[in-house]
Amino acid sequence: MKIKACIFDLDGVIVDTAKFHFKAWKQLADELQIPFNEHDNEQLKGVSRTTSLEIILQKGTKKYSDDEKLLMAKKKNECYLEYCATIDAGDILPGIKLFLDELKEKKILVGLGSASKNALLILNKLNLTSYFDAIVDGNKITEAKPNPQVFLKAAEELNVLPHEAVVIEDAEAGVEAAVKGGFFSIGIGDPKILAKANVVFSSTAYLNLVVLNRL
Ligand code: BG6
Ligand code: MG
Repeated sequence: MKIKACIFDLDGVIVDTAKFHFKAWKQLADELQIPFNEHDNEQLKGVSRTTSLEIILQKGTKKYSDDEKLLMAKKKNECYLEYCATIDAGDILPGIKLFLDELKEKKILVGLGSASKNALLILNKLNLTSYFDAIVDGNKITEAKPNPQVFLKAAEELNVLPHEAVVIEDAEAGVEAAVKGGFFSIGIGDPKILAKANVVFSSTAYLNLVVLNRL
């Protein structure tokens, strides 16, 4: 496979912010007395903030108005950003920086395909923004993963076709989006959860060009 571009998910692939999303949602769920654990959280990975809130509220019995939901999502985001306050380049997941350097050296384009509206803020904190030839985040899309829109838009901005690009994802919904879009997908995490991916690695530490060229 001749790869022209690599499109990265952000949360859980470049940095372990997935744990902060979980902690912030958990705090809200506890306040609402809705049972919510790490297993439930898998459903929230890769999906938008509003959809995540809906998934949590469905686990409870009470109905809330749109204004109440807006406030809840705002509160969750404030809590999430507090957790993210201390993030810096030291929090980049294993192997990611080296892999990005390799991609740049070989002139393989680098894209971001994230549902997060905080993506740019996080990339800036990690000092990684300049690596990206295209950044498509939650502010630029109307359809959340598993819809492939975010990756198709990134491919379009990079001027490559889906079959010329690899998507790297840690979420079930994200892998599904990549598959639907016609991308080669690399899952990071549990092969049972990411069963639809073309290949799954247990850690980002295994990402490198030698491995990629063998796929
Ligand atoms: C995704 C995360 O990257 O972004 C989800 O996997 C999160 O857990 C979503 O809900 C939206 O993020 P944000 O930062 O816009 O609330
Ligand atoms: Mg993710």
